[in-house]
This record gives sequence, structure tokens and C-alpha cells, in this order.
Amino acid sequence: MKDLILDVDTGVDDALAIIFAVRHPGLRLRAVTCVAGNAGLDQVVSNTLKVLDAAGAPADVPVSAGADRPLVERARDAGHIHGADGLADLGLPASARTASSRPALELLRDTVLSAPEPVVIAGLAPLTNLALLLRAYPEVAGNIERLVVMGGSASIGNATPVAEFNVWHDPEAAAIVMDSGVPVTMYGLDVYYHVSVDADTCAALSEHEEPGTRLAGRLLLHQIAICGVDPRVAGDGLLGDAGALCALADPAGLTTERLPVSVELAPGRSRGQTLVDRRTIPGEDVAHGLAEPAPGIDVALGVDAPRYRKLFL
Ligand code: BDR
Ligand code: CA
Repeated sequence: MKDLILDVDTGVDDALAIIFAVRHPGLRLRAVTCVAGNAGLDQVVSNTLKVLDAAGAPADVPVSAGADRPLVERARDAGHIHGADGLADLGLPASARTASSRPALELLRDTVLSAPEPVVIAGLAPLTNLALLLRAYPEVAGNIERLVVMGGSASIGNATPVAEFNVWHDPEAAAIVMDSGVPVTMYGLDVYYHVSVDADTCAALSEHEEPGTRLAGRLLLHQIAICGVDPRVAGDGLLGDAGALCALADPAGLTTERLPVSVELAPGRSRGQTLVDRRTIPGEDVAHGLAEPAPGIDVALGVDAPRYRKLFL
């Protein structure tokens, strides 16, 4: 059993990941921290509490609010993908849970440092909270077994032609986390769009009598409506962030390579691009001292999609 912390911007696919985290028998959800991303911070907190209800999470799983904006720029939501409320506008009932009064950074620090064994963390959102944590309390790094980041891409982007949303939203935070020396798996767009559930199964789940399963089905039907046109998804319901949770629970389903990754920070349309260096021969940029070799992280380049679909279901 692994102690797990989720950092989320709930978010349709964050919600699928929360349901998975609550239900997976090998994961013990110790804390959930929220950050502005798909929606504003207050909305993200409210969505997270509602999803924990539907998932049947223990009442004592603490939820904290973190950063309400990126380190440098203003927050920019993804309401055109996730709906006006960030959660497919399903009209879920208000939660009886309340968010912890403890700020997210303190909750993260205390949860990591008090865990008897190194914890695993899933960063499913802009990395603002996790960058602040690693800068404010670097001692936590020693008790983090692995951080799976849903973010980045070794190919095309989604927020811009080259940048993935979570990294694009807070590129400075992503650079801090990826350079931190903590073992990072980058679960980026190269695998993100490949793990999905077929439409008939999504429809069946959406009619299920059990609330968490029913919510998952309704969210997956929203995914079909929004992302199903993408040829990589082919009319299925995209698991998205929940795929990153599958990777954490079952790393053998992922093919990774240890590669140097740097984040483009310059202003302009390529800001937020993850530059994944797949060269085997040193380039002139390194030879002439124009580029610092970035430390390596584990970049996901392939995924056993049927394996993760089965695991999720
Ligand atoms: C990521 O951006 C958000 O919209 C999703 O929740 C996911 O974390 C995909 O680029
Ligand atoms: Ca997310």
C-alpha cells in the first residue's frame, strides 16, 4: 500500500483520477491539494470536495487550497474544455465536507514528512503548489519516492501548438519541479491521449447505480463530446489525468526514457514548451556552451492502453 498525495485543478479528468485514487486497493489517499488551472481556485476546491463525496472517500481525507495563480502570470482557465464550473456542468450536489484551514504548502509538507515510507505524488495540474513546496521546504524531497507529473509533451501541444496546458499555465513552476532532483515521471501528451474507454462502456457506466461509477461514466461522456473528435481518441472517453494515476499504480504499463527536459520560458507562442532532448550525439549548442545540459527525468513515450483501460474499469 502506497501513501499518495494528489495535487489537482479539478477538472473533468482530475475527477476521474480522484475516483481512481480512492478506489485503488494499493493506494492510500493521504491528502489532496488544489491549485488554479482548469477553473479558479475556489471552484477547484468545491469540485474536489464533491468528487470525493461521490467516490466515497473517507471523511478525513484533508483537502487544502493552494495557489490561486501561477508564479508569474495571471490564471487562465480551461472552461471551454471542462465546462463553466470546470466539472462538465453536471450540477452535482453541494458537499458536506469542508476544506482544511491548513494552507496547501503546510499540508503537503506535513503529509510528506510524517509518512513512515516515502510517498508518491501525482501532479495533475499546473505545478505551482509543488514548485513552492520544493522551494520552501526542500527537506521534503528525501521522502518523495516519485512524482508523476501529467504535463508536457515530446511532440505537439494542446494549449498552444507546442505547449501542454499544465506546463503552459505555469512554466516557471514546471521548470523548478523538473530541475528539482526529485524522481519525476513526465506523463505527457505523447501518452495522455491514448488511454480511453469505449463509448458503449461509458454510457453503461453513466447509468450505474453506484454514485462514483455513475459520475465516472457521466464525466467520460463529456470527454467524448469534447475530445472524441481527436483521431488519437477516436470517439472514446479519454481518461486523461486518470491515466497518470494508472501509471503510478502500475508503472510496468508505461514505456519511459530518461531524457533531459527543459521548459521554454521566453515570452511568445512557444512559452511552456517542454524541450525533450532525444539526441544521441551532443549538439553544437552544448559544444559551444550555449545550453546547459538539463538533468534527466523519465519521459513516457509509450503506454499499454488496453492494460490501463482494464485497470481503470
Ligand atoms: C491537462 O490540462 C487539463 O485541462 C487537464 O485536467 C490535464 O491535467 C491536459 O493538458
Ligand atoms: Ca488536471
